[in-house]
Amino acid sequence: EKGGYEHFMLKEIFEQPRSILDSMRGRMIAESNHLMMSGIREFENKFVNANRIIIVACGTSWHAGLVAEYLIEDLARIPVEVEYASEFRYRNPILNEKDIVIAISQSGETADTLAAIELAKSKGATIFGICNVVGSSIARATDAGAYTHAGPEIGVASTKAFTAQVTVLTLIAMIIGSKRGTLETTKLHELMVELETIPSKVEEALQLNDQIIKIAEQYKDVANCIYLGRGYNFPVALEGALKLKEISYIHAEGYPAAEMKHGPIALIDEQMPVVVIATKDSSYEKVVSNVQEVKARKGKVIAIVTEGDTTIPAMADHVIEIPETSEHLMPLLSVIPLQLLSYHIAVMRGCNVDQPRNLAKSVTVE
Ligand code: M6R
Repeated sequence: EKGGYEHFMLKEIFEQPRSILDSMRGRMIAESNHLMMSGIREFENKFVNANRIIIVACGTSWHAGLVAEYLIEDLARIPVEVEYASEFRYRNPILNEKDIVIAISQSGETADTLAAIELAKSKGATIFGICNVVGSSIARATDAGAYTHAGPEIGVASTKAFTAQVTVLTLIAMIIGSKRGTLETTKLHELMVELETIPSKVEEALQLNDQIIKIAEQYKDVANCIYLGRGYNFPVALEGALKLKEISYIHAEGYPAAEMKHGPIALIDEQMPVVVIATKDSSYEKVVSNVQEVKARKGKVIAIVTEGDTTIPAMADHVIEIPETSEHLMPLLSVIPLQLLSYHIAVMRGCNVDQPRNLAKSVTVE
């Protein structure tokens, strides 16, 4: 049942070229400019005329929501707010009929997310669900939705569900952007073509596994770890840190790289590993400065870079090269080495990666 892999988590990490493809199958064909999602079509006018989109989710699904905030604001120019479902439900939020609430949940059973949906419904908002489990409570509670087609996710640490969520949210941002006229046809087509190449680029990123095992060996005994990223890679830094803490029990924190100097930089010394996502995108030059700041304090830098980069490799202690892509799609690639790094560190520490202590696959109590 684990398909020859030692753990479900590893199997699910390696399934991602397929699960990403399955999540776009039938919804997008670049060659014929086909881009369609039945759940959106029904509510197309609502989306096009929405005042605001509010995303509610928990944990890794909340991180996928953060990626969507960058995507939807950039491509569709609709203001987006991303909320922890647990906070949103108790905050007496301001909502009305022109707002769309997108609820993201792998299991479709998360109690806080379900309660946030019920609250938003009572205020007249339209609720759109993105779930992985067909027929789940959240899928049933929403007005419309789109399933991720990641297949069953057994490992408690979410991996393939995250990339499937980001894939579906990317398609949604592209659809709304094109309907609203904020995403021009040539740019849309370029993105579609690029998105189609992502499964094979994820496949390439998975080939970094042996290199990542060697890095994991060197860092498996650390007590702390910092993750930094900017722009589209900021949510990926948060996700990398969550993956490490939940399965290896190493204390890890993710930050927007520039926020480091407002406090966390005090933690950096020669013992502190800092994982920096420093791919070639619009914030690259800024991230180069952030890496210099870490090195000036003797932190150990593990950098995720775009293939062919020479600047960061000259400064970093370890370099993991991933394929080039549009910055809009980069989270789908940059998260892969972080999943593998957490997995191998946890296994080397003797942790139960599929069922970490104190955690359940879905949190059905508040
Ligand atoms: O099933 P959901 O997506 O609603 O679950 C949300 C979180 O409980 C979940 O993502 C959790 O944070 C995972 N253990 C992360 O790996």
